[in-house]
Amino acid sequence: METRVAIQTRRSVRSFKKKKPDWRNIIEAIHSAQYAPMAGGNFSLRILIIDDSTKIEKIADFSEQKFIEEAKYLAIFISDPKVTKIPYGERGETYLKQQAGAAMQNFNLHLTDIGLSTCWIGHFNEEEIKRLLKIPKEMNIEAIFPIGYPKENLKIRQKKPPYNYLYFNEWENKRMKNEPDIQGRMTGFKS
Ligand SMILES: Cc1cc2nc3c(=O)[nH]c(=O)nc-3n(C[C@H](O)[C@H](O)[C@H](O)COP(=O)(O)O)c2cc1C
Repeated sequence: METRVAIQTRRSVRSFKKKKPDWRNIIEAIHSAQYAPMAGGNFSLRILIIDDSTKIEKIADFSEQKFIEEAKYLAIFISDPKVTKIPYGERGETYLKQQAGAAMQNFNLHLTDIGLSTCWIGHFNEEEIKRLLKIPKEMNIEAIFPIGYPKENLKIRQKKPPYNYLYFNEWENKRMKNEPDIQGRMTGFKS
């Protein structure tokens, strides 16, 4: 799959088939996460894979999102703050979040590429989950990814060109409104 197709066809999926994904595919997607840019080249994440159904049920509960129970695997991305705080101080807190996001999106796009789906879960009770999984207090749980095969066909969207978010040379200068050449190039992926 081309990169742009993966980017534009990825969707959040909240309903999974019973079929269990091959765990080796998930490990490969985690390997893709390792290729994300990291300040100083230092990987600041740990990834916890959960396949214990009792734990998955509890995590669904601690996230107040029942659909998570349908997943046979969860991948939990955890940042170790000392990796960026020690070398970069206060700025390191921003780097920690940015590189977690970059790694998690690599993971997400790799899953899309191989026909697996997930949903980025940011709403959860971090303390309860740390206790359940014996994650040290000083770590940050960034997000939880329930993984499975989508039950329904994914709806492909067409997003408008980015003119509303795009400025030139200075803040809020929208010189490029409706440039016809560019418009034609940004029609998005068509299924
Ligand atoms: C930081 C972050 C937190 C999110 N948390 C949740 C969540 O707790 N539960 C959920 O169902 N979706 C969550 N989402 C997924 C968004 O709802 C979803 O990306 C958005 O609706 C756009 O849909 P799409 O992913 O299909 O493009 C989260 C996404 C991000 C980036």
